[in-house]
Amino acid sequence: MRTTHIRSAAFATATVLLLGGLASAPAATADSGGKTQTLHDLARDQGRYFGSAVDNPELADTPYADLLGSEFGQTTPGNGMKWYATEPQRGVFDFTAGDEIVRYAQSKGLKVRGHTLLWHSQLPDWLNNGTWSADELRSILRNHITKVVKHYRGKVFAWDVANEIMNEDGTYRENIFYKTLGPGYIADALRWARAADPKVKLYLNDYNVEGTGAKSDAYYALIKQLKADRVPIDGFGMQAHLALQYGFPYQMRQNIQRFADLRVDVAITELDIRMFLPADEAKLAQQADWYGQVTDACLAVKRCVGITLWGYSDRHSWIPGFFEGEGAALPWDENLRRKPAYDAIRKALTD
Ligand code: G3I
Repeated sequence: MRTTHIRSAAFATATVLLLGGLASAPAATADSGGKTQTLHDLARDQGRYFGSAVDNPELADTPYADLLGSEFGQTTPGNGMKWYATEPQRGVFDFTAGDEIVRYAQSKGLKVRGHTLLWHSQLPDWLNNGTWSADELRSILRNHITKVVKHYRGKVFAWDVANEIMNEDGTYRENIFYKTLGPGYIADALRWARAADPKVKLYLNDYNVEGTGAKSDAYYALIKQLKADRVPIDGFGMQAHLALQYGFPYQMRQNIQRFADLRVDVAITELDIRMFLPADEAKLAQQADWYGQVTDACLAVKRCVGITLWGYSDRHSWIPGFFEGEGAALPWDENLRRKPAYDAIRKALTD
């Protein structure tokens, strides 16, 4: 059983990886004007976007922010639009962090995915520690979704409305909303989001759902039911936090296709592929092959609308802090040099 989200007890010190000769030379694909095409240029030629998440403090890292702005066509705030950030006290909204990322994205021509309206993690203390009746919690959830979605109307093209609402065995995760409101909170959340912004694309989003299995089966059944009940649902986000030691997701392309057949878009929303450190040539080659395979799987299905890396470089990655001894998960290294994974993505987008 793959368990990609076991959080290490202690935050490990980020291991400095010197990839040296393993980093690749700049790729040579050029458009007719002689300008090297970026990953996003290549994806856009295929009707897709290619993006990377960014967390607010990273915007101060100028070389990092510049490369993000030039190579990618889409971004997702890593933390800035989560509940703890947007409603730190009940009824008191703070859009500072999310707005900063929207402003940055607009200045660079990147479109923004909103992440996330409800999640069991990173909720503010007032919400976690309160005792709520069903009526109170419903009103809190409705108000949060309405205020946040209205604030970002016209500024984000999609929302992860509900994040990580299933367990590995396909049962509902017993988060605060499920425990107090029952499973109907999901349809309610989608309806409230639609009421606040009739145009934004509404997604469910989770990890360990890239391949077929109990968890993705549960989402398949849920989305089918939501569609039958005429609940607004536009897309399914596959986070794709992969790890070499767990194997490539089983039947990823077929799995994306079956969701597309339900008439929802699919997006790869948080892609990274970690490994045990130190990285070596063989692991980086396998990682590159997987990045290529994920890109191929998305491109094979028309309704797979785009790919977002969860940060694009090993310089700013959540992995070493959560999984002791693991890292090197992104296509650029700590020094912002391209790794073999970059070339593999490029090749998949070009072929
Ligand atoms: O804000 C505090 C800061 O005040 C404090 O000094 C610092 C010390 O550790 O912590 C800061 O909070 C951190 C927060 O990110 C903001 O940087 C938390 O410790 C840290 O746990 C938190 O990690 C985020 C994680 O979600 C929380 O589960 C990662 O940055 C973020 O990349 C990650 O993103 C999630 C997606 O939202 C959902 N899917 C999984 C993905 C990876 O876990």
